[in-house]
This record gives sequence, C-alpha cells and structure tokens, in this order.
Amino acid sequence: AATRFEVESAPATCDGVVESNHTGYSGSGFCNGHNAVGAAAQFTVAGAQKGTATIAIRYANGATEGRAADVLVNGAVTHPGVAFEPTGAWTAWATKTLTVPVNAGANTIRVSPTTADGLANIDYLGF
Ligand code: GCU
Repeated sequence: AATRFEVESAPATCDGVVESNHTGYSGSGFCNGHNAVGAAAQFTVAGAQKGTATIAIRYANGATEGRAADVLVNGAVTHPGVAFEPTGAWTAWATKTLTVPVNAGANTIRVSPTTADGLANIDYLGF
C-alpha cells in the first residue's frame, strides 16, 4: 500500500498556508497555496530503485475551474499542466494518479501551478 506523505509534515513544503478549515483531509491539515503562478507544494520520497512509480496526489478544488499545475520530478517537468479539476466543494477530495520516473534514493516531487489561481488545496502525496 502507498505511504502518505502529508504536505504539512517536513520535508514537504507548501508555498502558502497549512489550513484545516475544510474537513475530509488526512493528517492535520492541507496546503492552501498562495493564489499565484509557481506557488507550489513539494514532497520528498525515497525510491527503492531507478524506474517508474505511481504517485497519487490528493486534492480538493471547490472552485468552478480546474487548477492546472505542472508536476516536476527532481526539477524536471514530467507532466505539464495537469488539470486538477473541480471536485464540487473544498470538502470534497479526489486523487490524481500519475506515473513518474524516479531515482534510487531521495526524489523531489513538486506540484507547481501554472495560473494565477494557484493550486487546488493539496492534502498528501501517496507513494
Ligand atoms: C477559498 C477556500 C480555500 C481555497 C481558496 C482558493 O478561500 O476556503 O481553501 O484555497 O478559496 O480559491 O484557492
């Protein structure tokens, strides 16, 4: 089963505020990123070996438009403009599953918004 890397727990980072005002999150909160291009959430995971891995990004988007974000692994964009579609409410959480390249050892996975709306609210990364 996947391990949950909570966005509110170091070494994960949130270019915004960790909040807990919308229920349904895992752990102690979620990342409400600044509403700005590049205001990112970043996770660090340990790859067992070089290859590919499935990641799951849990998010909520109570707005009416998608919150597009690039996904970067170790600084390189692997998935440009991933559409974090509306989930209907800020309390309604969904999971975005992606396959990414990983190295053996530490890998950074960064979710970086491409519009001034910023990120959807981000809960955790499953790896
Ligand atoms: C609301 C909501 C936040 C969300 C924000 C946004 O303020 O309460 O959780 O992050 O909208 O649009 O990004």
